[in-house]
Amino acid sequence: MKDAAPATAPETFYLKDYKPFGFEVETVELTFKLAPNSTRVLSKIRFSPKDNAADPRFFLHGEALKLISAKIDGAPVTPELIAGGLICDTPGTPFTWEAEVEIDPAANTALEGLYMSSGMYCTQCEAEGFRKITYYPDRPDVMSTFSVRIEGDETVLLSNGNPTGSGEGWAEWHDPWPKPAYLFALVAGDLVNHPDRFTTRSGKDVELNIWVRPGDEGKCAFGMEALKKSMKWDEDVYGREYDLDIFNIVAVDDFNMGAMENKGLNIFNSSCVLASPETSTDANFERIEAIIAHEYFHNWTGNRITCRDWFQLCLKEGLTVFRDAQFTADMRSEPVKRIEDVIALRARQFPEDNGPLAHPPRPEQFQEINNFYTATVYEKGAEVIGMLKRLVGDDNYDKALDLYFDRHDGQACTIEDWLRVFEDATGRDLSQFKLWYSQAGTPRVKVSEDYADGSYSLTFEQSTPPTPGQPDKAPRVIPLAVGLLATNGDELRATEVLELTEAKQSFTFDGLASKPVPSILREFSAPVILERETTNAERAFLLAHDTDPFNRWEAGNALATETRVTMVTEGAAPDGAYLDALEKLVRDDTLDPAFRALVLSPPSQSEIAQTLHDRGVTPDPQMIYDAAETFAQTLAQQLETSLPRLYAATTVDGPYQPDANGAGLRALNGRILSLLTRLDGGEQAARQYQAADNMTQQYAALAALMKAENGEKQSQAFFDQWQNDRLVMDKWFALQVACAAPDAAAKVATDLTRHALFDMKNPNRFRAVMGALAGNHAGFHHASGAGYQLLAENLIALDNLNPQTTARMCAAFQTWKRYDSARQALIRVELERILATEGLSRDTHEMVSRILQ
Ligand code: ARG
Ligand code: ZN
Repeated sequence: MKDAAPATAPETFYLKDYKPFGFEVETVELTFKLAPNSTRVLSKIRFSPKDNAADPRFFLHGEALKLISAKIDGAPVTPELIAGGLICDTPGTPFTWEAEVEIDPAANTALEGLYMSSGMYCTQCEAEGFRKITYYPDRPDVMSTFSVRIEGDETVLLSNGNPTGSGEGWAEWHDPWPKPAYLFALVAGDLVNHPDRFTTRSGKDVELNIWVRPGDEGKCAFGMEALKKSMKWDEDVYGREYDLDIFNIVAVDDFNMGAMENKGLNIFNSSCVLASPETSTDANFERIEAIIAHEYFHNWTGNRITCRDWFQLCLKEGLTVFRDAQFTADMRSEPVKRIEDVIALRARQFPEDNGPLAHPPRPEQFQEINNFYTATVYEKGAEVIGMLKRLVGDDNYDKALDLYFDRHDGQACTIEDWLRVFEDATGRDLSQFKLWYSQAGTPRVKVSEDYADGSYSLTFEQSTPPTPGQPDKAPRVIPLAVGLLATNGDELRATEVLELTEAKQSFTFDGLASKPVPSILREFSAPVILERETTNAERAFLLAHDTDPFNRWEAGNALATETRVTMVTEGAAPDGAYLDALEKLVRDDTLDPAFRALVLSPPSQSEIAQTLHDRGVTPDPQMIYDAAETFAQTLAQQLETSLPRLYAATTVDGPYQPDANGAGLRALNGRILSLLTRLDGGEQAARQYQAADNMTQQYAALAALMKAENGEKQSQAFFDQWQNDRLVMDKWFALQVACAAPDAAAKVATDLTRHALFDMKNPNRFRAVMGALAGNHAGFHHASGAGYQLLAENLIALDNLNPQTTARMCAAFQTWKRYDSARQALIRVELERILATEGLSRDTHEMVSRILQ
């Protein structure tokens, strides 16, 4: 076999090696002379050595730069160019560094640094992209004020901060707030804006703009409303005001991630900001509102207070995800948002935490930091903050946050700083809690119970399986929200937070006339896996009676999982009692439609595979698929007589509004339509497709028809209608693959990669096809190995162009050890093939090596 290691082993960076930079950067002045293939960047930077800086030589990061000239205090110098940057002698006293470099934005397909997208210039500098723009100490603990001059023919020239002047072919900007280079941004293009204004609570008038390509003006209104709501919410809830005269958002088509919080100039993947009823689903609207909020909230949690180094990434991301979830809960429904978040956590973070890519929310080493923008850093990082808030209480949380903003404004901070404000504000010792930041893996909490003489006790045992580099885990602080119910459904004990701190611990409730039914881990108060011997009868009782909506849903989810597991392992029929419970629930008009839609949504097939694996059964993806189909068909038959009435009762009349109530009804209506389509062959869905005046209903109808293999006509019509709208076409591409039968998925995806509108360089389009393939569980894991092979081929092809997106998508293979040895062997071949690719990026090399380990 060919040696897979690259010529020079990639460097590993360690948290423990942190050293401050030896110089202060007082001011940064940049001039951009834009040209697609030969942009010139002139920098003039004022450095002063810190007292302790013994070494007068300095190192500046730089990548893919052509150095034209360099000067110190006006005199030409010849720095030593090394891999990843340059080294230069400095005077040992404050000095001015000037450099001119040339870069090639048009050739930049990695979408990192300055690049071009649909004819416009834009930037993405987080995490380490600024070094592709000019030589600079590209690390988040180096903060400075930036003044920028842009020279170009484009009608719109934007950068961070406030505008300070403009004329024919030029514009100047000044950002008064010191910031690290990763928050730098520049946009230049012939763009149009959707303008608005916001008055802050202290009376400051702020100009707001969403900038888009001509033709997209009609898709900005919703994002603008979301922005204004976010600005108001952060004032009301966190006391945080906006701090510049202007706030700009720009939509770009080619973007590796969702969006970026550059100071005063947020740049968005167009899929995360552009919305209209005709082109966006309810789910799109909710996500756009959340991402706009997320990026806006970063202005305080990320920008005003940033990270000392990239190991601390969850300091800003975990907190900002937590804040945007609070915002969404306030704007929409708190329980529904919580359920959605737990579904996402289990789908994306649990596989990471329980596989070869497991890492703590604060990792201690990396080769490529872009590989650590993960569900663990973001979503588990947010869960950790939720636990902290629950442990200290709401008032103490507010006190600690005020102290955080007071104490650390303008600083680059660590997790230690973050925890210290909580300790100082509350007097509580958080040293054990801190393990959540350093230990990887999802804790298992085993529950047993005991009842005698009016006294009921719950015993919890916690343990966390080994993860890479962490064979042994210490017990953590786990907040367990628990309530007790009587067998008639009355609440005997309201929710109380039990603090589990030991490996094994019991809690007793006295004065109970009979054995209660416990409702444990209410609101999913900790990101753990609860293990408890219980019966389907008790789960059905909780599904009907639990006073905590999350646990009500959770009981239904457990029933759904159990019935699928027994279908797969015992060839059993769908559980009749569960079907009855579902029927009762779906007809219960006193329940929130969004909640009913969630209870009707089956657990993912990938999750069933994980559950089987956890119970020592090797999952067969085809059998899991068949069980899901049988279950849905049986449910449809059971509901047969009520489906038409339910469909009619959940149809929203009147003009489309993307609000939570309408969205909830449409979600339920969509679930009912998919069941109905199993019985009527698609008659109702075809009518809905015809009549739909919004994307939510058009898409739901098309999906139902395609799933029933009866949607060819509508699929063609959809294509004809939307072929010039990229975001809608992404949906079309993804749906073909998502709806394909297991034995057809790879073929459908292969054909789509040859479609005239497939574009490898556009991450949204690439993800639409390859992400949908990875998400089609039985299709991706088809025994032929065709799915594995196709993904690997495309990853190899993309790696040359865009390492970041390639590396992220490698995660589709992270669960490979769940499956049988034949599938493992097929996957291993593909992983080794990727690893052996000549010139493989550091990003992909790191991901594949970790998955293979
Ligand atoms: N900070 C951005 C956000 O979460 C994400 C940008 C990450 N980009 C990257 N290339 N790693 O809002
Ligand atoms: Zn973020």
